[in-house]
Amino acid sequence: MRVMAINSTGLQPGQGAGGEHNCSLAPLPSDVAEALSSVSLRCVECSALYPGIEAGRSPRYRCDCGGVLDVEMAFRIPGHSSPEAQDLEASGDGPTTGGLSHDNMPSAGASLRQLFDERAANPPIWPISTDKLLLDCSGVWRYRELILPAPERYVVTRPEGNTGLYPVGVENCGGGRAGHRQIGAFAGLELFFIKHEGENPSGSFKDRGMTVGTTMALMLGAKAVACASTGNTSASLASYAAQAGMRGIVFLPAGNVAGGKLAQSLAYGAQIVQIEGDFDDAMRLVEQVCNEQGIYLLNSLNPFRVEGQKAIGFEILQQLDWQAPDWLVLPAGNLGNTSAIGKAFRQAYELSLVDQLPRIASIQAAGANPFYRSFKQGFAQRESVYAETVATAIKIGDPVSYTRARRVIEESDGVVEEVSDAEILEAKVVIDRAGIGCEPASAATLAGVRKLVARGVIKRDECVVGVLTGNLLKDSKTGIPQEVGESVVAATIEAVRSALAR
Ligand code: F0G
Repeated sequence: MRVMAINSTGLQPGQGAGGEHNCSLAPLPSDVAEALSSVSLRCVECSALYPGIEAGRSPRYRCDCGGVLDVEMAFRIPGHSSPEAQDLEASGDGPTTGGLSHDNMPSAGASLRQLFDERAANPPIWPISTDKLLLDCSGVWRYRELILPAPERYVVTRPEGNTGLYPVGVENCGGGRAGHRQIGAFAGLELFFIKHEGENPSGSFKDRGMTVGTTMALMLGAKAVACASTGNTSASLASYAAQAGMRGIVFLPAGNVAGGKLAQSLAYGAQIVQIEGDFDDAMRLVEQVCNEQGIYLLNSLNPFRVEGQKAIGFEILQQLDWQAPDWLVLPAGNLGNTSAIGKAFRQAYELSLVDQLPRIASIQAAGANPFYRSFKQGFAQRESVYAETVATAIKIGDPVSYTRARRVIEESDGVVEEVSDAEILEAKVVIDRAGIGCEPASAATLAGVRKLVARGVIKRDECVVGVLTGNLLKDSKTGIPQEVGESVVAATIEAVRSALAR
């Protein structure tokens, strides 16, 4: 494995920050300008603050120093008139964030819990009457006060979210779930939940960020959107771009994208650019071409995508009746999801939506483990590797959201673990055979939980939520028996009887 140490942004100052040669977008409609006036972007490296959108300039994805940006906004909480909560300044991931505190926000938390619970009480069926109901039915826009103040007419939603939270622990599994209990037994946990983000419209958690990213694209008047992807972001982008009537362009590492994901991007009509290189090459190129050609970039480098993915965290807390779990465990590649869920938990804690901050465990494939390597050195330096793993979704050697995610791990007293390909495939079989199923990268969650329980980092009686990020059908080849030949029998009852007797 080729391993390189690089600086914390991975860029020279000024490189990749976008600039004066960029195409500018058309003047913003007044409702968009008004909505975005409460939004700022904070550099996670140097704390520089920029407006959410800068007049006459194309969208900004990086600080002038090269650092990644994080959304900060004043939350407007409906029906809550106390001045401190009405324009509550949400702390970003920026270095200026002080110690966490939620003692001054109990009434904001109660108002928000009530609001979100009322919206969730609407039947989650496709509504045709009003847009408002549609927003309430989305497991992202239900939390819109904490996500993005988008005028409703721009919102591009399937709707997404509302994914299952399966009790699979040895104790909390309940009757009729003997199969699911196998997952808890494998992990060695009594109180264990699986959050299946593969149940999103395009089959992965990416839809939560993409509904917000595409909505931003529409608000900004973009005609084309693009991303680099290991497959799921591209499938999601292709779907949402098609819905919004935009040109979708996806940059894929040639030969390294699972069949189901490639099929989705093709079917939804995105333009596919296969790069003779890895995801990290595709990422570098898409950022450059988007800046050059005024195409709206929809990787998690785009801070608004991260805002949408926060909804996974809010939805988990709501499904647990606003009782925070002890641990949240998830697979980690480009680190957008670690950043997003960590941010959601921090904001939920600061707003007193919950009174405990879950610890976060990010799990990497051992062959694609730059974040794990940094963690092992106490984050003394950022690492980069040449990635190699069967879990192609997380085959990433130089994660864009390193600094955001590092902050999440430090702030939540979290951990980073690595698991081998064999451990990932072993865990995938357990999840598949339980009748839930997932794609290989998602199984890193269960492999990681099992390892952390065995090491005593996670205690057997702690409450753990593990995120499965992608649907089983995304990759129908890896870790699934392909031999069905012997199951073919003659079309006679005798042949069927003898087949069942085998
Ligand atoms: N699991 C799956 C199924 C993924 O597709 C990804 C990322 C991850 C986990 C890791 O999430 O990058 O936020 O740390 N897939 C991206 C893509 C890179 O292009 O689809 P992360």
